[in-house]
Amino acid sequence: MKAAMAKLTVTDRKGVRHELDGKAGERLMFVLRDDYNLPVEGTCGGCASCGTCHVFVDEAWVDRLPKRQDDEEQMLDSLRHVDERRSRLSCQIIVDASMDGLAVTLAPEE
Ligand code: FES
Repeated sequence: MKAAMAKLTVTDRKGVRHELDGKAGERLMFVLRDDYNLPVEGTCGGCASCGTCHVFVDEAWVDRLPKRQDDEEQMLDSLRHVDERRSRLSCQIIVDASMDGLAVTLAPEE
């Protein structure tokens, strides 16, 4: 059986839009960095402790994603370019088919 996918739109730091396929069950950070070679460092390997996978979620999706956990909130609190509503750590977003159409923008480097 083919793994469920979600079509994702990602705007990079130069304003270029990329259409990606996210595999269900995969962390968004790995889709961006490893599957599509986008400039996301993900230095901590996805454990919410480096902040380099920071993205802004399109407003329309903010309330449709699972809420931030405490460790994600704490990491975001330490970043400079945070948007109260739209900031997420992409390593804490696990893609599923309900996220088809999700759009995010890579946050500026800190
Ligand atoms: S990869 Fe380090 S916080 Fe997400």
